[in-house]
Amino acid sequence: MQTTPTQSLSAEAISVTFDGLRAISEVTLHLVKGEILGLIGPNGAGKTTLVNCLSGFQSPSSGRVRLAGHDTARWKAAEFRRKGIARTFQGGRLFREMSVLENVEVTGVALGMSRREARRAAFEALTWMGIGRCAHQIAGTLPYTDERRVGIARALLMRPDFLLLDEPAAGMSDHECQELTGLIRSILSELGCGILLIEHNMAVVLGICSRVHVMDGGRTLAEGSPEEVRKQQAVVDAYLGAEA
Ligand SMILES: Nc1ncnc2c1ncn2[C@@H]1O[C@H](COP(=O)(O)OP(=O)(O)O)[C@@H](O)[C@H]1O
Ligand SMILES: [Mg+2]
Repeated sequence: MQTTPTQSLSAEAISVTFDGLRAISEVTLHLVKGEILGLIGPNGAGKTTLVNCLSGFQSPSSGRVRLAGHDTARWKAAEFRRKGIARTFQGGRLFREMSVLENVEVTGVALGMSRREARRAAFEALTWMGIGRCAHQIAGTLPYTDERRVGIARALLMRPDFLLLDEPAAGMSDHECQELTGLIRSILSELGCGILLIEHNMAVVLGICSRVHVMDGGRTLAEGSPEEVRKQQAVVDAYLGAEA
């Protein structure tokens, strides 16, 4: 696919091996600013490992990750963050003893905001995510679905160019999924960033993704528009069939 290099985050034929076992093999994917790219595949397909590579949490064993055409091989996760890449985690990774507000505030302070500025931005982001009411609750008491909302609020504080969301809707009801879908759409229109969305709920994927990348067993199975991907027999066999 042709992309303008300044507007893309790319994995180029990346492989990751853990103790001799291939977690991902030769995966190529381009995330472009202004789009929502869905990443689907069964558990163990390598989706999180790919996101780890795209955000500096894992170095590929071979292949390259490029941001705006730059080779990121020497970058650590902090450098990816500085360069505008934010990601969320399947588990919230919150400081469980701190309040929800403080959890987001620390991200602001780490970004160089004053305490006061960070607090204001954190409250705004939480309100935007629909959990302003939980701001003063201890983070450890939140349900998992809200932990993930806090994770997205943190990422929003960075006003990223690329946002990588690892199963943000897992465990949510249909109604919550719809709300989250709306929020992800607003993030796109507000920030104009590129969003990579790992998601199992096909209604969510088909509803908001302009393209979908399908993985199975560490490899790319298909990539295309939601309609194209849905028609491919290999995708149906590996993944969608199991959902039906
Ligand atoms: N840190 C790790 N050490 C060893 N194996 C890992 C590690 N992380 C992931 N794996 C393995 O890599 C494969 C892909 O995992 P993962 O990327 O988490 O898949 P997904 O997110 O699609 O469920 C799995 O077989 C998993 O057990
Ligand atoms: Mg995963």
